[in-house]
Amino acid sequence: AMDSGVARLPITDWIKYEQELQERIGIDQKLMSRITNQAKENPKTVVFAEADNYKILKAAQAVKDQRIAKPVLLGNRNRIQSIIEENHLDLQGVTIIDPFEEAEKREEYAQLFYKKRQRKGLTLFDAGRLMRDRNYFGSMMVECGDADALISGLTRDYSKTIVPALQVIGVEEGINKVAGMYIILNKKEPYFFADTTVNVNPTADELVDIIGLTARTVRFFDTEPRMAVLSYSNFGSVQGDIPNKGAEAVRKAKAKYPNLLIDGEMQANTALNRNLLREHYPFSELAEKGANTLVFPTLTSGNIAYKVLQEIGGAEAIGPILMGMRKPVHILQLGSSIREIVNMVAIAVVDAQNYNNQHI
Ligand code: ACO
Repeated sequence: AMDSGVARLPITDWIKYEQELQERIGIDQKLMSRITNQAKENPKTVVFAEADNYKILKAAQAVKDQRIAKPVLLGNRNRIQSIIEENHLDLQGVTIIDPFEEAEKREEYAQLFYKKRQRKGLTLFDAGRLMRDRNYFGSMMVECGDADALISGLTRDYSKTIVPALQVIGVEEGINKVAGMYIILNKKEPYFFADTTVNVNPTADELVDIIGLTARTVRFFDTEPRMAVLSYSNFGSVQGDIPNKGAEAVRKAKAKYPNLLIDGEMQANTALNRNLLREHYPFSELAEKGANTLVFPTLTSGNIAYKVLQEIGGAEAIGPILMGMRKPVHILQLGSSIREIVNMVAIAVVDAQNYNNQHI
């Protein structure tokens, strides 16, 4: 039951894949080095909810060795220990927590979770049972301050992993919906894509929220956002649900965030090619520099776009960065590489360091 039933590739195949990732030359790593260095200044406790996995353990060793974070491993103790031994990993001194051994903590967390959700149909009995699930237990650790950040996902569907975090930790005050962002690193400047992971078909008003969250997160990475809301049309060239939704979101976002550079709706090449903008749409605020932040009209488009770039575009995709949670929680995509996990841990640590002022 702990296993998701996938056919596991030999670890050597994954190591080869990691090497191929490393060999993507010319990708500008300035942004990630800055984050990694910032994490090292004050490493935080990061709990890995799915620690009985080679890639997670390898990443945990890397962040421990580089002093990016203090990892805590959550899962079946015997399984974790046997993976460590089989692969000669060095996780000496790293805390392993097996929720099944933690009857007292489970009881404490269950009581708190029950208080939160007793008027949402949850019984105390069910709350107790849920605390055997690592995603609930791990979320409660962060909720109660027993850890600073949670990294989960990797072996289970994103949608199944995010729900415990949403129920336990939930959204930040003043935010309606959480959303997901990816940073796309290439040879030029970094690009930012949203929503790539959460909201299936956001309304115009939900897009406005996603725009606000994304702008804040791009600034968190010391970059001033230049945003385009994407569609298959340029500035009303086609009428339809998606173009109209994008145009409405841009209108509302301009009113709500007067200091934000944003335009649309527009096609992706229009957004990214300032010559196209200058020649055909010189009235656009983005005509001077083009966009560095792309807001997608649906989850389908955002999710597909980044995955295509990641696999054939020669770009490195950093994420998924979960925006708008009340505390730092990030959920890995199914099958993330070790390198991606380490990057996400560094981001989670910096997120946790800044939690009382500017965060994700
Ligand atoms: N922001 C904040 N809270 C949310 C959001 C959101 N975007 N969506 C749901 N919630 C809340 C709900 O209000 C609910 O709260 P409550 O129980 O306290 O009232 C709680 O989360 C659980 O909601 P459910 O109704 O159980 O779940 P829902 O059907 O709303 O689904 C989900 C939420 C799972 C995020 C859904 O929108 C989804 O499946 N999204 C797509 C995820 C996905 O598959 N992404 C693509 C792959 S990811 C990748 O490639 C890395």
